[in-house]
Amino acid sequence: MSVLTKGCKEKIVQSKETLLAPLVSLFDMPHPVVWNAVFKRTAPLDVEIGFGMGEFLARQASLYPERDFVGIEQLWERIYKTFKKIAETADSQNALDNIKILQADARVVFERLFLPGSIDNIYCLYPCPWPKKAHIKHRIFCQDFFKLLNNRLKDGGRITVVTDFYPYFSWMLEEVQNTGFDVQTQRVAASYDTKFERKWLSGGQQEFFEAQFVKIKNISYGLKEDVALKTYKLKEFDPKAFRFVDFKEDIAVIFKDFLFDAEQRRAMVYLIVSEGHLTQHFWVAITEQKGYWTVAKSEGQNFFPTPGIAKAIELVFEAAQNNRS
Ligand SMILES: C[S@@+](CC[C@H](N)C(=O)[O-])C[C@H]1O[C@@H](n2cnc3c(N)ncnc32)[C@H](O)[C@@H]1O
Repeated sequence: MSVLTKGCKEKIVQSKETLLAPLVSLFDMPHPVVWNAVFKRTAPLDVEIGFGMGEFLARQASLYPERDFVGIEQLWERIYKTFKKIAETADSQNALDNIKILQADARVVFERLFLPGSIDNIYCLYPCPWPKKAHIKHRIFCQDFFKLLNNRLKDGGRITVVTDFYPYFSWMLEEVQNTGFDVQTQRVAASYDTKFERKWLSGGQQEFFEAQFVKIKNISYGLKEDVALKTYKLKEFDPKAFRFVDFKEDIAVIFKDFLFDAEQRRAMVYLIVSEGHLTQHFWVAITEQKGYWTVAKSEGQNFFPTPGIAKAIELVFEAAQNNRS
């Protein structure tokens, strides 16, 4: 909605719906995502990882209306501030409908949502440095992640990473070896004007470390695809005897809770399923219908249908079968 305020300066007043418009649900669209269909046009595609307060994302989208931008961030508080930043940056000519936002772990998003050879540029400004030796394993730009990004980039596509923390910078230059990139590095002054850059700048840091990774050779890295989920049937089920033993292999399925509604004739099993970078909270329903029991995913929850989720349903079926009295 556009209104004239005092002084006749045109101001965009955003309804909550408009404010949240860039948000894309990970689960309501087919995987992998065809971004041209989401943006309803064919345009170059740039992605920012960990956009924080969204300053750079909003600026880029405003400067380059002919390009499309996907921002990935884990923290909702920052995402919400980014919506406001997008609304402030938009003007009556340019609604910034070239931005889509995903709340997720970037590793999972690149594994599942982006097709090979589909991205032009990837940006990551001031990634979490994980300075302690014991935490280095959490750094995102490890060799495996470089391989994944390589595969999802177009030929000649580019990753730009800037960090305030030299040990992370030199570690990244080791990790990128043999992942199909040509590397260009430079020391730069503060030039992105993001919250974290301003923080380091106000702390006295004048110099930052920027790397450009240009894809020169394709590395194969399979897409993680959704799997079909089964519904199991049981002739008998005794909720009082239900016991679930945690499963811990490549996939971990950990039991958290069991509820039974005697009137509804339905049991609900709450599990945590971990595989690779992905941890999902998941409910399996055991429901009596027409004289038999079904074991299946519970409706009304968001999750990626992965091999771990399929395993969780199978394990609940086995537990329900074995614990019959
Ligand atoms: C140090 S902050 C930098 C934020 C912003 N780029 C800036 O310069 O102000 C790192 C950001 O990356 C996000 N982040 C960390 N790991 C992530 C991941 N695996 N996927 C998506 N975002 C991530 C964090 O939530 C945080 O907002």
